[in-house]
Amino acid sequence: MLIAPSLLSCDFARFGEEIERVDKAGADIMHLDIMDGHFVPNLTFGAPVIKKLRKYTDKPFDVHLMISEPYKYIDDFCDAGADIISFHTESDSDIKKTIEKIKERGVKPALAIKPKTPFDVVLPYLDDLYMVLVMTVEPGFGGQSFMADMMPKVEKIKEECKRRNLPVLLEVDGGIAKDTIACASKSGVDICVAGTAVFGEKDVEKAIKDLKDLCE
Ligand code: DX5
Ligand code: ZN
Repeated sequence: MLIAPSLLSCDFARFGEEIERVDKAGADIMHLDIMDGHFVPNLTFGAPVIKKLRKYTDKPFDVHLMISEPYKYIDDFCDAGADIISFHTESDSDIKKTIEKIKERGVKPALAIKPKTPFDVVLPYLDDLYMVLVMTVEPGFGGQSFMADMMPKVEKIKEECKRRNLPVLLEVDGGIAKDTIACASKSGVDICVAGTAVFGEKDVEKAIKDLKDLCE
């Protein structure tokens, strides 16, 4: 299981140092939540901030776009140093065009789905995807409860990838903690995003290790 700490729960006044801290603590991927106050009822930060953070780690930047028009900003996030860009099927941008644009820039494309979105929405795009992100909370805020009833969606997408022999990774985001990560692991999840469960602990190294140890 790969652990991607969500920087949404870090101390934004020490953003760079927080990235260094989780890097040293064994984080596999840095999960960066971009919110526009329109697609979700919250605001975070944008590409200029990511650009400044890039020098603090060599670990991959997983940029989760919770914005209404991701297509418009793909170049900005690619220029800023994103390695993976996830955008939502529920956004207003053309899905195929947006995936193509991300791929053209040599960045890994991922599709994200909100809890109410059925799994089959991603199936027509699977061949072109690096990852699928199944939200296990309503996007917008950290610290919410894990929705275990999203696991059938994970399992069905995994099944379809297997059937088509595609190496697409499955990521879940929201409510991952010591009491929920085993459930995600059993369903075949490859990457768990964890905000509160990492930054809410004093010892982030132990927090990441504990989460990994609870997986199969
Ligand atoms: C929610 C974000 C998540 C969030 C997860 O919209 O996409 O990445 O930070 O936070 P926790 O792990 O606290 O649920
Ligand atoms: Zn996220």
